[in-house]
Amino acid sequence: MRSRADPKGRRVLVTGASGNVGAPLVEHLVQAGADVRVASREGTRAPEGTTAVRFDFEDPSTHAPALKGVEKLFLMRPPAIADVKRHIRPVVLAAREAGVRHIVFLSLLGVEKNPVVPHAKVERFILEAGVPHTFLRPSFFMQNLSTTHRDDIREHDDIFVPAGHGRTSFIDTRDIAAVGARTLLEDGHEGKAYDLTGSEALTYAEVATLFTEELGRPIRYPAPSALRFAARWYQRRQPLAFIAVMTGIYTVCRLGLAGTVTRDTEQLLGRAPLSMRQFIRDHLACWKK
Ligand SMILES: NC(=O)c1ccc[n+]([C@@H]2O[C@H](COP(=O)([O-])OP(=O)(O)OC[C@H]3O[C@@H](n4cnc5c(N)ncnc54)[C@H](OP(=O)(O)O)[C@@H]3O)[C@@H](O)[C@H]2O)c1
Repeated sequence: MRSRADPKGRRVLVTGASGNVGAPLVEHLVQAGADVRVASREGTRAPEGTTAVRFDFEDPSTHAPALKGVEKLFLMRPPAIADVKRHIRPVVLAAREAGVRHIVFLSLLGVEKNPVVPHAKVERFILEAGVPHTFLRPSFFMQNLSTTHRDDIREHDDIFVPAGHGRTSFIDTRDIAAVGARTLLEDGHEGKAYDLTGSEALTYAEVATLFTEELGRPIRYPAPSALRFAARWYQRRQPLAFIAVMTGIYTVCRLGLAGTVTRDTEQLLGRAPLSMRQFIRDHLACWKK
């Protein structure tokens, strides 16, 4: 049985607090009355009702002070951190040392079948450290379309990803945050891994149709090859490692491996996950010319 332990005063450290999942998560925790520590590298920005904490995965001197007195840790791995043994494992160990009672880790859908991805290694570090944990394993974020791919949609009227005709079970990060808040504030989620997806799997052609309907101008999905995709990002002077990772990620979609739909999100939230149409409506301004 899950019980809703009194969240008031429960000290939670949120890493990646300004990020796609972290920002809405902080809002949920504040509303619930938790004592929220907002981790960031510069350590001064804090939404109302929270405390700013300086924390840098790459600066071990910030780990113990940030974790002092923390009961629950929301742990994410910043996309730019590739060497998780060097930069994330010490944080897991520092959390154990500080007496953290529960780590909720933002992992990746399918991680259990893919031991080479950094998230699989982080899950292993947490298991080895023996700290009670919950793994959130989400599918592709809808928010990739309002961040990484925003300029393609806004300026080129296209969704330019080499995903072929594969389906993707997109999830809105606001739903991941809502699940994250529940798992941090309620008892009973320890030792669990949740596969978080939206309620349907869409092709990018279908996503482009939704954009066309909601934005009121044609948005195309040209289904570019990996080579054309890499060329566009190379012209934007993006690092080759970033281009390679993105190409690899969309190859997973192209191969039809990103379409798994689960019911975990709905069961945990007691409502249907947010739809792609709703996501587009809520972010219309960011794709306006
Ligand atoms: N995008 C997807 O579709 C998807 C799907 C499944 C899983 N995931 C995983 O979800 C995670 C989050 O991805 P995202 O793209 O949404 O990232 P994000 O939240 O936008 O990442 C940015 C956050 O990372 C923090 N950060 C960056 N470097 C840091 C450092 N050295 N020390 C401390 N904090 C640092 C930033 O904090 P400050 O700048 O404030 O310091 C910021 O809050 C990743 O592990 C990703 O692999 C993503």
